[in-house]
Amino acid sequence: MMLHSTLSLFAYGLLSSKLALAAPLFGIGDRLSDSDATSATPDDVLNGLIRPAQFSRVAYCSSAAVTSWQCGPPCDALGNDIDVFQAGGDDGLVPMYFIAHDPSQDTIVVAHQGTEPENFLSVLNDVQFFLEDLNTTRFTSAEGKDIQVHNGFQKTFERTADGVLSGVLNGLATKGASKILVTGHSLGAAIASLDAMMLKQEVDPSIEITTALFGLPRVGNQEWADFVDEQLGGQLTRVSNQDDPVPIVPPRTIGFRHPSGEIHINAVDDNGEATDVVTCEGQENSECSAGNTVLTASVSNHLGPYFDDISFGGDACPL
Ligand SMILES: *[C@@H]1O[C@H](CO)[C@@H](O)[C@H](O)[C@H]1NC(C)=O
Repeated sequence: MMLHSTLSLFAYGLLSSKLALAAPLFGIGDRLSDSDATSATPDDVLNGLIRPAQFSRVAYCSSAAVTSWQCGPPCDALGNDIDVFQAGGDDGLVPMYFIAHDPSQDTIVVAHQGTEPENFLSVLNDVQFFLEDLNTTRFTSAEGKDIQVHNGFQKTFERTADGVLSGVLNGLATKGASKILVTGHSLGAAIASLDAMMLKQEVDPSIEITTALFGLPRVGNQEWADFVDEQLGGQLTRVSNQDDPVPIVPPRTIGFRHPSGEIHINAVDDNGEATDVVTCEGQENSECSAGNTVLTASVSNHLGPYFDDISFGGDACPL
C-alpha cells in the first residue's frame, strides 16, 4: 500500500501528459541488467516452440470454437486429434483458458488467453496495481521467501486456479499423459507462469512440466524470479519479440524482475519467419528485452508475427 500511495502522489504531480506518466513507469533509466551474453538459438529449440505458440494462438478463439476444435486455421495447424476436455473463463474478469490432451505429444496442455495490448499496457501502467505478497496457499514451498507478485495478476490467476488444477489432475489421471505444457501470450503468459508454479507444487515430480510464454510482462519481485528459476529453471522459456514494450513493464525501478529463460527475436522477415533469434543469459539481459525502451516501443511487435507466421490476439483467431 505504501508503494501504491507513493506512486499515486508521484503520478498526480507529474501527470501533465500521458507520456509523463508512462515514461517513469516504463522504466526510462531502468537499463540495469545481469548480462549481455547471448547465443544463437538452435533450430530444434525454436521448432519446439511452434506447437506451444499455436496453442497460445488458439486461446484467443471463442470457447465454442475451441471446445469443438472448429476454429479454422489456428486449430487445423495443430491437427484433428486434439481433445479439449475443459474450458473456463469468460470475456470479462476471467480470461478464457482451455485444457486439452495432445496425444501426439503425450501432453496435457493448459493455454490461457491474453488481452489486446492497448488495454493491457494501460492496466500494467495503472497506478492502482502494485506488488503484493504471494498467497502461499497454492505455493507451499514459497512460504517465508518474501515473494511478491503483481496484485492484478494474482487476482486473475486465483479466479481460474482451482479449475486449472483439477482439470490437469483429471487429465493426467484419465488420459494417461506423462507431460504438461503450460502456455499463453501477454496477460495469458503472466497467468500461465503462476499456473506452472502451482502445478509444480501439486503434480507428481515424475511429470515433466514445460512452460512456454510469449510476450510475458514482469510478474513479481526478485524473490519471485529466483523462485521461478529454482522450480522451473531450464523448463521455462519466455519469448520476446523485437521492440515489444510489454516485457519491460511493470519496470524494475518499482521492484519487478523477470525470471531467466528468455529467447529474444531480433528480426522477422516478410513471411513471418524469425531470422535472428538469440538465447539470453541471466534474468534481465540488456541485449534482449531488458534493453528495450519506450522510445523504440512497437506495440505491434507484441502481437507478432513471432515465427512460423504466428501472431496472437483476437485478429489471429476471428472465430
Ligand atoms: C489465499 O488463497 C486461498 C485459496 O484460494 C484462499 O482461501 C485465501 O482466502 C487466500 N488468502 C488471502 C489472504 O487472500
